[in-house]
Formats: sequence, C-alpha cells, structure tokens
Amino acid sequence: MLSLDLNKQYQRIKEKVDKRLQKVIDEGQFILGPEVDELEKQLTSFVGVKHCVSVGNGTDALMMALMALNVQHGDEVITTAFTFAAPAEAICLIGAIPVFVDIDPSTYTMDPDGIELAITDKTKAILVVSLFGQCADFDRINRLAGEKGIPVIEDAAQSFGATYQGRYSCNLSNIACTSFFPSKPLACYGDGGACFTDDPVLAARLRQIRAHGQTDRYQHVSLGMNSRLDTLQAAVLLEKLTIFPEEIVWRNELALAYGASLNDEIKAPVVRFDNTCVFAQYTVEVAKRDELKNFLKTRQIPAVIHYPKPLYQQLAFRDRCKIVGSMQHTEYAVSCVLSLPIHSYMEKQEIRCIVDAINEFYFPVCANF
Ligand SMILES: Cc1ncc(COP(=O)(O)O)c(C=O)c1O
Repeated sequence: MLSLDLNKQYQRIKEKVDKRLQKVIDEGQFILGPEVDELEKQLTSFVGVKHCVSVGNGTDALMMALMALNVQHGDEVITTAFTFAAPAEAICLIGAIPVFVDIDPSTYTMDPDGIELAITDKTKAILVVSLFGQCADFDRINRLAGEKGIPVIEDAAQSFGATYQGRYSCNLSNIACTSFFPSKPLACYGDGGACFTDDPVLAARLRQIRAHGQTDRYQHVSLGMNSRLDTLQAAVLLEKLTIFPEEIVWRNELALAYGASLNDEIKAPVVRFDNTCVFAQYTVEVAKRDELKNFLKTRQIPAVIHYPKPLYQQLAFRDRCKIVGSMQHTEYAVSCVLSLPIHSYMEKQEIRCIVDAINEFYFPVCANF
C-alpha cells in the first residue's frame, strides 16, 4: 500500500501535463516564464486574494513573509511547537525567537488564549500553522492581533484548499504561505511554494525579496533571496489545479469512510463546524501508538507519526526559543497521534483493509468477525 499514489493522478492528466511541459521546453523560458504568471493569476482567483508571489518552496515562503514584515534579529514571533520544523526554522534563520504556545486539543492548531498570554512588546508577528488540512481559529487570532497591531502569517502548507467560515486558507491573514511539495494537497513534481497577500506593498516587497532584493536589474535595494517557482513546476500546477476541487471531495469521502468504520480505541480527527478540511493527513489519537504503528508496518500499511516531539525539545530549537504557558495539549498530542494513509486516489477497499488491521491489533481474537 502506498502513502501517496502520484502515478494514478499523473495517468489521469498525463496528456495535458506532457503537452504543457513540452511547450515550456520548446520555448525555453525556464525562469519566470509565462506559466508562472498564469499560475499566480489562477491561484489568486482560487484563493480570493489580490496578490500571489510564487516561490521556490514553502520554507522560503515563510522566511520571505517574515522578511517582508521586517521581522528582525531578537524580535519574537509567536508560533506552535506541534508541527513540522519549517516555521520555527524560518523564524530562527532570520535571527528572531520562536515563542511557542499550546494548541487546541481538538484541531491541534494554536490556542488563541495561549497567544494572548504570549504577546509582549517584542512580538513582531504571529505565525499560525493550519495543520493536517484545516485552518486555525483566525477570527479570534486576527481580532487579538488587530488590537495590538501585530501582523499574522498563515502557514498553509498543509491546508491549501481548506476553508474557514467560507473563506479559503491563504485568504485569512496579512500574508499566507503554502508549499507545493509532492505530498501536499496541491502539489508539483518537486519543490515549490507561494505567498499570498491583499496588500500591494507587501506583494511588491515579496517580489523584491524573491529576486535578490532588486527593484530593477542590478538595483539591489535590500537583502533578498533566490527563490522562484520553476516554470516547469508552474506548468504542472496549472494542470493539477483543474482537478484539485474534485480531489478535495474525494479525500473528504475517504475521511468519512475512515470515520464511519474506526473502532472506539481511535479518536478520529475533529473538523470545526465552520471549517472544511483537505485532510493533508488523516491523523488519529490512539492507545499503544508505537506498537500499532509497528504492527501496521508488518501489514505494509505506512502510518506516520506527525509529530513525535514538540519543536522546543528538538536540539535545533531548544536553546533558541521561549515557551509561554502550559504545553499539556502539545505534550499529549506527541504521545498518541498517528497519521493513517490518505490520498485522493485511494480505494475505499484500502481503507477497509487498514481498519481491519487496526481491529486485529486491538481485538486479536474477534478480528474480521
Ligand atoms: C506546516 C509546514 N510548513 C512548512 C513546510 C515547508 O514546506 P517545504 O517543504 O515546501 O519547504 C511544511 C512541509 O512539510 C509543512 O508541513
């Protein structure tokens, strides 16, 4: 069983993808070619924001968002420790300090009460991760941030295509960042990412940072980076975007199938009433997590622990971060979460096999009755 079946998706759109790729190769505009511009336009209209700046990957997108907001050495950025390393890494790489707050135990996204406690005079941004395919509680977070004049960044690497109160992820904050890494909800055939904003000044800064801080050729007015989405990847994404809404529906059907058949030992993901989820992962809470994971491995079922340690326990961040408040929900989550395989091209029969294997683990005598 595969945790991700990119080939099935490719077979579905092969002719169109191949044609687009061939066109890029024939025309030779590999850097910022017309497909990049076309994709940025299509992504802005999909998300409903004014500006999209495509970039090399999701981690660069986060660094560039912090740079565009002028976050500097010694500034504090409030974020979560229950996620992939990239947001904390981006904060540290620009010399700022990640300030970790606890999560909401049902959605695993940042708890707005924790954010309120963590705000100080040094807070220069709040970097909110929309985790496992669903958005955080942006209404409360934006209200809090607005009262203090602090900008909010959404890390939407795992939530592109999800909605919060009817608005798309990437349309909920001052700047949003996403990743098109091959396992992400909308994915290319390599590294890729994008920043989104409604603010024309921030969009111009992001474009400048993307091109070595240039305003014009060889006019370097600030430090920048070299982080562009390849034209070939933009061509792939243009085709994949056309089937993306249908893929989200399929993923949700699979999530429903899981939810309907999992036994009581398993806590299924909770999607907030005002959210829709893209199930970048199907992450459950289980007893005897490590044993179950190993058992599933013997059945060729690739379950993954997202995430086994809070980031403040990782060597890279341990001495560079602050923690505010209790981390009880973060500590609990790392002890029992397990992501079961999900991708849009899975068969419902595969879910049945996974559920049967889980039942066999917990109830060895009566399995498959
Ligand atoms: C929450 C989150 N943020 C950022 C990233 C970084 O994206 P990329 O791999 O494109 O740099 C990831 C990648 O897994 C992620 O899961």
